Amino acid sequence: MVKIELKNLDFAYNGSMVLKNISHHFEQGKLISIVGPNGSGKSTILKCMDRILQPKNGTISFDERNILNFHADELAKKIAYVPQIEGGTFPATVFDSVLLGRKPHIQWSPRQNDLEVTASMIEKMNLKNISLKSINKLSGGQRQRVFIARALAQEPEVLLLDEPTANLDLKHQIAVLKVLKKLTEQGITVIIAIHDLNLALQFSDHFVLLKDGEVFASGEKEIITNENIEKLYDIKVNIIKQKDKIFIIPLS
Ligand SMILES: Nc1ncnc2c1ncn2[C@@H]1O[C@H](COP(=O)(O)OP(=O)(O)OP(=O)(O)O)[C@@H](O)[C@H]1O
Ligand SMILES: [Mg+2]
Repeated sequence: MVKIELKNLDFAYNGSMVLKNISHHFEQGKLISIVGPNGSGKSTILKCMDRILQPKNGTISFDERNILNFHADELAKKIAYVPQIEGGTFPATVFDSVLLGRKPHIQWSPRQNDLEVTASMIEKMNLKNISLKSINKLSGGQRQRVFIARALAQEPEVLLLDEPTANLDLKHQIAVLKVLKKLTEQGITVIIAIHDLNLALQFSDHFVLLKDGEVFASGEKEIITNENIEKLYDIKVNIIKQKDKIFIIPLS
């Protein structure tokens, strides 16, 4: 089933075209990796899907309904977004930040269920031992896990994550992708922008290769070929197949 559909999407920042005629449908319950060089438009696509940015042309639909027709709270129950880097200061504890993810579900004040969901996402992201610490005092990777936990607390149907593993140590890279993969088994659609192709290959069901604001190729891991990767990044690579796993080794 198609969860999110982009049709003829164009996006421009101050007149300069960044996304060009993008049409793509994202299937429900899949982990989809958007990959491509710096500046190819990955973050811009994700921001358009969360309605943070308005495309110049084209439409984005969620369950065949244009996302422009959703009330903000209604959209927040459907789609959660974790940005690439959250800088700035956050005068809140880990627990309170994750609880903020419950906002679209809360009428007056948090109920028992909101507190339970918050605690469970904190546990999932391995933040329990620092749940009362201020966000300002966390490392980059710990912060990143807090923002992922906040998005999970939203209990959305679609999760958009911009480079969710970028600041994480090896253990947490795997842990986060395992959590995301598990969500897809419950029917949640997870769309990530990611640079680490080997990590993406291990966990993704589907790939969208983005180059200069256009979909250069899309499909399952069969599209991760020498030819495609070399064209995408303008480098030479070795692709090694071991049983059902594929590894990419850049050649210097
Ligand atoms: N706020 C902005 N104003 C103007 N141009 C922008 C803005 N944000 C991004 N761009 C430009 O849009 C293009 C796409 O940027 P985007 O952030 O979507 O790329 P990306 O694929 O996410 O890159 P990266 O891998 O570095 O995160 C780039 O050329 C970038 O310079
Ligand atoms: Mg980006």
